[in-house]
Amino acid sequence: MIIVTGGAGFIGANFVLDWLAQSEESVLTLDKLTYAGNLANLASLAGDTRHQFVQGDIQDRALLDVLLARHRPRAIVHFAAESHVDRSIHGPEAFLQTNILGTFHLLEAARAYHATLTGEARDAFRFLHVSTDEVYGSLDATAPAFTEHHPYEPNSPYSASKAASDHLVRAWHHTYGLPVLTTNCSNNYGPLQFPEKLIPLMIHNALAGLDLPVYGDGANVRDWLHVSDHCTAIRAVLAEGALGETYNIGGNAEMKNLDVVHTLCDLLDELRPRADQISYRTQIRFVTDRPGHDRRYAIDATHIARTLGWQPQHTFTSGLRQTVQWYLDHQAWVQEVTSGAYRQWTDMNYGGRVAGAMGTGAAGLPTPESGMATPGAPA
Ligand code: NAD
Ligand code: DAU
Repeated sequence: MIIVTGGAGFIGANFVLDWLAQSEESVLTLDKLTYAGNLANLASLAGDTRHQFVQGDIQDRALLDVLLARHRPRAIVHFAAESHVDRSIHGPEAFLQTNILGTFHLLEAARAYHATLTGEARDAFRFLHVSTDEVYGSLDATAPAFTEHHPYEPNSPYSASKAASDHLVRAWHHTYGLPVLTTNCSNNYGPLQFPEKLIPLMIHNALAGLDLPVYGDGANVRDWLHVSDHCTAIRAVLAEGALGETYNIGGNAEMKNLDVVHTLCDLLDELRPRADQISYRTQIRFVTDRPGHDRRYAIDATHIARTLGWQPQHTFTSGLRQTVQWYLDHQAWVQEVTSGAYRQWTDMNYGGRVAGAMGTGAAGLPTPESGMATPGAPA
């Protein structure tokens, strides 16, 4: 069996569901169920004896030791993290606790467990650490995409904490011989993503008649990958990856944020037009930029393509259409996760940002008509 940390979150849940759809090998999901963890994401596994869920914190070393001794996994796939850059700006401590100390405790527990293994079980064991392209920092418009050899230059509390965790994983391999694998992936999108991240936030706000808050000039670039392609890549690395290696994973889909938001509006205009027949684009507002906002990420995924034969299957066009349709079909899921706590978050993150209506002023600058907008508040 395998242990998946953070398996009630966006990517972790997609991974667990994909895994059990393709394999008879059991999964134990360990998740603290923070605001981002949602057992409803795994509801389709109810009654499936191949899956067990344990609510717990990766910083709880005693719990980790019991789970490893009892279940004797052949791998740990480590997704658990605080994952949202904006939240890391408002409150970095939880990021240092979970992403750095949590990873440290998991590594130590894995090291102690690995030391008890012999023969084939010892040779087969893997610790796969799921990380991000944000550890490499920001690229200029024409700079080549990140390879695995790009220097680490994290710029946000989130990316600094993930960079620290990557270094710990590397050190536990070199110093203690723990059989680790690390993946650094670009921006994911798809079903089950919490609507604090760009794509589900824009879909949620558009349908709710709220402002669509674009940070700065909207020209920041992200490299988008459908979550199911990320899951396929992780399975490939787990199966065939070379010990101690890092694999960059990306979708060859660089997009400016404003282009992503325009595309989303156009898809919604087609699939769920507003009652007044006016385009959702009119809800776009430029708001004060994210502090330290990285300008561009781009992944060079040549290494994983050449060594493991992995390629993304979704284009951004097809993947985004499928994702918009998923959110339209799962409005009850969205309602459930956009609870009172969620509304507090949107008030805190967006309440102080000055909004400028699309087309009425220079990007990012306030316009006299628009005043202060609070995208999380009812229209
Ligand atoms: P998410 O925020 O949706 O889910 C994180 C999960 O971890 C939640 O279920 C949460 O309850 C759980 N968790 C948090 N703290 C925990 C703790 N202390 N102990 C146990 N569980 C805890 O995140 P996501 O977007 O699914 O990202 C998963 C992983 O992938 C993260 O490590 C993230 O850095 C990485 N990553 C994400 C993206 C992306 O675009 N979302 C891209 C590349 C890499
Ligand atoms: O690159 C991988 C990373 O992608 C992951 O490691 C992170 O866990 C994940 O959250 C994501 O980070 P980003 O900061 O790139 O994602 P986010 O969806 O928050 O923002 C995407 C872009 O959209 C970014 O340039 C900021 C912008 N944005 C975001 C929000 C929430 C807006 O313009 N308005 C918004 O309201």
